[in-house]
Amino acid sequence: MTRRAVVRGTGHYLPERIVDNKHFEQMLDTTDEWIRTRTGIERRHFAEDGQTTSDLGMRAAQAALDKAGLSAADIDAVIVATSTPDLTFPSVATMIQSGLGIQRGFAYDVQAVCAGFVYALANADAMLRAGLADRLLVIGTETFSRIMDWTDRSTCVLFGDGAGAVVLEAAEGKGDNTDRGILALDLNSDGRYRDLLYVDGGVASTGTAGHLRMQGNLVFRHAVEKLAATAHLALDKAGLSPEQVDWLVPHQANLRIIEATARRMGLPMEKVVLTVADHGNTSAASIPLALSVADSRGQFKPGDVLVAEAIGGGLAWGSVVLRW
Ligand code: UT7
Repeated sequence: MTRRAVVRGTGHYLPERIVDNKHFEQMLDTTDEWIRTRTGIERRHFAEDGQTTSDLGMRAAQAALDKAGLSAADIDAVIVATSTPDLTFPSVATMIQSGLGIQRGFAYDVQAVCAGFVYALANADAMLRAGLADRLLVIGTETFSRIMDWTDRSTCVLFGDGAGAVVLEAAEGKGDNTDRGILALDLNSDGRYRDLLYVDGGVASTGTAGHLRMQGNLVFRHAVEKLAATAHLALDKAGLSPEQVDWLVPHQANLRIIEATARRMGLPMEKVVLTVADHGNTSAASIPLALSVADSRGQFKPGDVLVAEAIGGGLAWGSVVLRW
């Protein structure tokens, strides 16, 4: 018998303010047409002034609990993936823990930028297998609008704010790939590429939050090569082949990267969950948002094989294979 981390519920929250591409035509030398054709993004949500990363994450977490039919008292641990915390410390996870009224267990943040949710799932899976928790909330929540340079057209049109969450619950499996839950993970990072995608500020350097800087075309090339590779590695570890994949749930950074990854995996676009047009790139929130949106549309059937993958600053990248 093997302890498996099974998804019991999903939830998400998007701030009310929706900004379409036309908005940027008034402030920058850009067009709706350029943004659509180069990225697939049509609109994104931005948090209101005063609305923080923990506020967004709380709402997503509550939605996931409601979907799972559970209450806060059932949760042993809260793991949050974010690169845009409310404060340097305490963690967003502890803020959400107390906001939900959870008074036991443990909570902490994981920072692996856009790959953060995959890393957080790896943490949750390990905690659950080690018997440290039976029910966990895993949340990806971001307010990337707070680290945009609004004069840099090559980055500020790409990102959005939002949050997604899943409740993971321990279940006894047979130990083979017919089990439900997380079947395999693959994690990678390579700090030699730090200058391709970073924030130019921080506590111990400038004392400011800083702004996101990216050499987009170089990140693009790494993404196309590394995302299909990590997905194949995780599938190998799970003893599954790409033909057995029912759904690819990719990091929603750029439609062209998503299409190239699906092509390399031999998957038709009908098997790919897409939210990039409506959300833009929400970094660590992107995968749980896509999972929750697809789940609320009723796209996943029990027993479906899902692969999620992401890459971002670090560079850090990885993938997870799970059976719904
Ligand atoms: O989530 C973390 C991972 N991040 C990613 O996965 C992002 C990966 N990168 C990308 O998605 C793409 O590289 C971008 C969407 C960022 C850029 O697309 P691209 O096709 O790689 O364009 P490029 O950077 O090679 O730029 C082409 C041209 C440049 O002009 P010149 O030098 O050819 O005259 C840019 O200055 O497009 C220009 N450009 C723009 N033009 C109009 C850059 N941004 C814009 C813009 N509007 N917003």
